[in-house]
Amino acid sequence: MVLGIDTSCDDTSASVMESGRVLSNVVFSQIEHSKYGGVVPELASRDHIRNILPVTREALREAVVSLKDIDGIGVTYGPGLVGSLLIGMSFAKSVSLALEIPFVGVNHLEAHIFSLFMGRKINFPLIVLIVSGGHTELVLVEGEGEYRVLGSTLDDACGEAFDKVAGMLGFPYPGGGEVEKIAEKGERDAIDFPRAKLKGYDFSFSGLKTAVLYHIRKKPPSEKDIPDIAASFQEACVDSLVFPTLALSDRLNIRTIGVCGGVARNKRLRKKLNERAKGCKTFFPPPQFCMDNGAMVAGCAEFHLERGEFSPLTLKVNPSLTLPTQSP
Ligand code: KG4
Ligand code: ZN
Repeated sequence: MVLGIDTSCDDTSASVMESGRVLSNVVFSQIEHSKYGGVVPELASRDHIRNILPVTREALREAVVSLKDIDGIGVTYGPGLVGSLLIGMSFAKSVSLALEIPFVGVNHLEAHIFSLFMGRKINFPLIVLIVSGGHTELVLVEGEGEYRVLGSTLDDACGEAFDKVAGMLGFPYPGGGEVEKIAEKGERDAIDFPRAKLKGYDFSFSGLKTAVLYHIRKKPPSEKDIPDIAASFQEACVDSLVFPTLALSDRLNIRTIGVCGGVARNKRLRKKLNERAKGCKTFFPPPQFCMDNGAMVAGCAEFHLERGEFSPLTLKVNPSLTLPTQSP
């Protein structure tokens, strides 16, 4: 039985997993950042200190287990905000030391990939698009634990662009979900926002974000213009994600594609990828496992612990941790 902890950004989450089965998954989303339009790192770490014990207690209660039933503990050690990571890490090390159980540091990006495997088997090799508030990466997963990053964003992450455009349209942070909701009432082709054309399989969202800003500045939108702006922006984002992913799938002749991370909740992205990825099998995590959560960390930790891969208590957090990168 594994306890998974994630405090990489502004969500405090804990989950108990038993042999691949999620017994509980508790996520406390900090809302106080909303009034600042983005995460304030110092406030986030202070809130993690307040939340980590109640969230873990709740995860144990929901799983109907106690701490002494836990055989191992996994915790995100990067990438993320250094102060936030430190809270989860110190907590996990303390539990490991007190209970004399192994602990393993988990790469948050690998954990997002594991959210795809929860409760099902996916055959290798597969291409994974990680698309969240902090990352936009195309990863080739050749086998268990074998990753190669073949494309990433050169500037903003896609979720970050959603959040910034949400702010421009008057929605509170984080606004990706709100943009999707209002976009349902708009026309996708109302405004021709740019799609970055890059060599290879990289992404760029800052030009698109600036185009939306200039559009709004040129003619401040009325209430009725907002759905069209949201829908046209969303379509440009979706195209910017779908086309490099399919180009990589063609190039490598790999017809299994997974999408994970917060933006993987987006229904337009799911629909367009499914429409365009003819002859491919596509996988998305259930919505509750797309955003940051402890269950994906527990799943990833279980995999490493079963292989006897434990971390020493001297492990340090790494805010800019990556997955192995290589040219396609
Ligand atoms: O994976 P996640 O919880 O955190 C990071 O690791 O960054 O992703 C959060 C991001 C935010 O930027 C949020 O606006 C975006 O995912 N997001 C969405 C949707 N739901 C969440 N973006 C577009 N459409 C959605 N439905
Ligand atoms: Zn994440």
